[in-house]
Amino acid sequence: MAETKSPIVDIHTHVYPPSYIALLKSRSSIPYIRSFPPSSSLRLVILPAEDTESTSRGRPVGSEYYDINKKIEFMDTHSIDISVISLANPWLDWVPADEAAKAAEEINDEVNDECGKFPGRLFAFATLPLSGGKDVIVKEIARLKELKYMRGIILGTTGLGKGLDDPELLPIFQALQDAKLPIFLHPHYGLPSSVWGERANDYGHVLPLALGFPLETTIAVTRMILSGVFETVPELQMILAHSGGTLPFLAGRIESCIEHDAHLKAEGKLGKGRKTVWDVLKKNIYLDAVVYSEVGLKAAIQASGEDRVMFGTDHPFFPPLEEEGGKWASVETNYEAIKGALGGGSKEERAALGGNAMRVLNLNSK
Ligand code: URA
Ligand code: ZN
Repeated sequence: MAETKSPIVDIHTHVYPPSYIALLKSRSSIPYIRSFPPSSSLRLVILPAEDTESTSRGRPVGSEYYDINKKIEFMDTHSIDISVISLANPWLDWVPADEAAKAAEEINDEVNDECGKFPGRLFAFATLPLSGGKDVIVKEIARLKELKYMRGIILGTTGLGKGLDDPELLPIFQALQDAKLPIFLHPHYGLPSSVWGERANDYGHVLPLALGFPLETTIAVTRMILSGVFETVPELQMILAHSGGTLPFLAGRIESCIEHDAHLKAEGKLGKGRKTVWDVLKKNIYLDAVVYSEVGLKAAIQASGEDRVMFGTDHPFFPPLEEEGGKWASVETNYEAIKGALGGGSKEERAALGGNAMRVLNLNSK
């Protein structure tokens, strides 16, 4: 029997729908879009660490950020069959509380409609109205079931303002578990700018993106583990951006620190029933393969399993700095890492490239 081609699925790929771009253009504090004279070209400024007087203030923002046809063009160039698109950071975190419900409804409907323009090729992670409070958030989670192409939600690390170990978030995690909507956890805030030192402006965006983002994710998930979220909401499913930051590499150290902590022991938190970091990595966590090297990807595969890693691109971020058109090095590096770690043509490679995402995100039903 002829083998059907297995699909390639990109689960880490962003959009700013046109209405969100309009909002960004109306603002003057991050996140915002504006030009910086004498240049007239528009720049997108989203990260606290990049809102500084330097050549690295924001990034050029073109139609690849908001035109869904450009996403499809990019997919075709890189042999990607299906993309699970998500609003890029910082989502709706900054929206005033009384506007959050409406903003999330509008953005989620708009993203769902964009998917409908290319049925079978586009699915999405929705955005939650975090600033609106628990009831508004739970209501939007319930509504997402009516949106045909939604397969989960994208979430930053701040939650309701106190991080993801905040007990106030438990009903929201519970609602996501019950709705079978995985969380795509994505960083934005990085680390306090003081850690980058006085010369940070000389180094472009390298420190916050290469180190701030992954550590932010690692810290957020570790705090969730320490607070017992995965015991209270045992079926909660999370897909971690950038292969979990540094979580696979540090899991052993985190686990050892937990086991040797007298305070946790005195509080009775080390007893039977505790899920170890390894348990959580294998039962509650999926990892994208956006780590740009075989070394990092092998750690991710060892930590969570080859059936739990999923290809991603981070498009439209990390475009080539010079040449226009053609394949992006940032994408090819991730393809190469998957091939190197799992073997070209192997069934494990096919699973990481798309099979795992098809299964976990139920992408066969359109
Ligand atoms: N920079 C961002 O701000 N977000 C991404 O997803 C990637 C790079
Ligand atoms: Zn991203």
